[in-house]
Amino acid sequence: MAKSEKRALVTGAAGLIGSHLTDLLVREGWKVRALDNLEPQTHRRGKPAWIHPEAEFIHGDIRDRETIATALDKIDIVFHQAAYGGYMPEISKYVHVNSLGTAQMLEVIREKSLPIQKIIVASSQAVYSEGAGICPRHGLVFPTVRPIEQLRKGDWEVHCPICGAVTKSAPTPENAPVGGETVYGLTKVDQEKLVLLWGKQVGVPAVALRYSCTYGPRQSIFNPYTGVIAIFCTRLLNNLSPVLYEDGRQTRDFSFVEDIARANLLAAETDKLDGLAVNVGGGKGVPIRQVAQILSKALKIDIEPEARGEFRPGEMRHLTSDTTKIRSAGYKPQIELEEGIQRYIDWIRSQSDIRDYFSEAEQILKSKGIVHRVEVGNA
Ligand SMILES: NC(=O)c1ccc[n+]([C@@H]2O[C@H](COP(=O)([O-])OP(=O)(O)OC[C@H]3O[C@@H](n4cnc5c(N)ncnc54)[C@H](O)[C@@H]3O)[C@@H](O)[C@H]2O)c1
Ligand SMILES: [Zn+2]
Repeated sequence: MAKSEKRALVTGAAGLIGSHLTDLLVREGWKVRALDNLEPQTHRRGKPAWIHPEAEFIHGDIRDRETIATALDKIDIVFHQAAYGGYMPEISKYVHVNSLGTAQMLEVIREKSLPIQKIIVASSQAVYSEGAGICPRHGLVFPTVRPIEQLRKGDWEVHCPICGAVTKSAPTPENAPVGGETVYGLTKVDQEKLVLLWGKQVGVPAVALRYSCTYGPRQSIFNPYTGVIAIFCTRLLNNLSPVLYEDGRQTRDFSFVEDIARANLLAAETDKLDGLAVNVGGGKGVPIRQVAQILSKALKIDIEPEARGEFRPGEMRHLTSDTTKIRSAGYKPQIELEEGIQRYIDWIRSQSDIRDYFSEAEQILKSKGIVHRVEVGNA
C-alpha cells in the first residue's frame, strides 16, 4: 500500500535535485507533478530520459503566471527547486527566475486561495558571506567576504574581523549573517526570505533548506557553471587538468544528491523545521584539491590539478555547514564522498560526448571580469 497519498509539485524537476526528489516521492507513494522549462544551458539535449514516467510533467517556466497556476492546482506540498544558478553575468535573469519567480508563485497561491499545506524552498549555503571561523583571541567569529585587494596579493586566508588574525574554519550555524556575495547568493536570500515571511503571514508552514555543494548522477555535464565535481570530472575525462582557484586548499561541504532529496522529504514530514532556514550538508569540510585527487584516482586518470593563481572575488574560502539543527530533526546523510563520487563516475561513463565545456566558460568568465588573477610577483 502506498505510504502517502500526498500530491507534490516539484519545480525544477528535470534537474539534479528535482529529479532525484521526484523519484523518492514517487517511491514513497506521492503523486508528483514535475515542472521544468528545460533551461538550455542545463539541458542541451532537451528533455532528459530520467524524468520519472509516473510523474505528470509540465514543460513550462516558473516565470509564467498561467503555468504556475496550472501547476499548483490540487497540490498539497510544493518543493521549489527551480532556479538559475552559477556565475553567469546575466544579473537580471537571476532576479527574474529566482526572486520574481518565487514571489509570483506565492502571489498566485494567495490570490487563488490554494490549499497548499507546506512550501519547501531550495536555498543554499551561498547565502553566507564567508564560513564561520575561530580566531585564536576572539573564538567563533563571522568574517566578511575577503577584500579583492587581499586576494590580488595572493593572501587567501580568512582574517578575524576584530583583530585581523588568521582564523581556522568552523562549522557555520544558521544564525551566521546572510547576505550573499554573488548575484546568485543574493537571490537565494530573496527566495528563502520571501517564502518564510509569506508563510508566516498567511499561516502556511514553510522551510528553506540551505543545501551544501550537491553532486551526483544527472548533474549537468553541459552547464559549465555546475558543481566542481562535474567540472573536474569532465576535465579529467578530456585529459585536461582540473583547474583549482586560489591554492586549492579552500574547503567545501559536499552532499550526495539522494541525501538532499531525503532532507526534502524529512522537511515535508516533520513539523520540527517549520518556519526555519536550515543547513543541509555533510558537516565536513573537504579541500578542493583533495576532491580533484579523489576523482583522478577513481577515474584512474593520473593528471595533477593545476592552480594558476586565479580566483573569483566574492567566493568563500571555507564553508562547512553546522548541521545540528537538521540532525536533531532526524537527518543523517548516508552517502560518503568517495562512494558518491564513484556513483557519479559510473553514471558519467554511461553518457556519450562528454566535452569540456569548462574551457569555453572560463574564457567568458575571464572576459567578464569574474575570474581574476593574482598580481605579478604575488603568485
Ligand atoms: N547543486 C547544488 O550544489 C546546489 C547547492 C545549493 C542550492 N541548490 C539549489 O537547489 C535547486 C536545484 O538545483 P540543481 O543542482 O538541481 O540544479 P539544476 O540546474 O540541475 O536544476 C534546476 C532545474 O530548474 C530548471 N529551471 C531553471 N529555470 C527555470 C524556470 N525559469 N522555470 C522552470 N524551471 C526552471 C532547470 O531546467 C533545471 O532542470 C536550485 O534552487 C539551486 O539553487 C543547488
Ligand atoms: Zn580576533
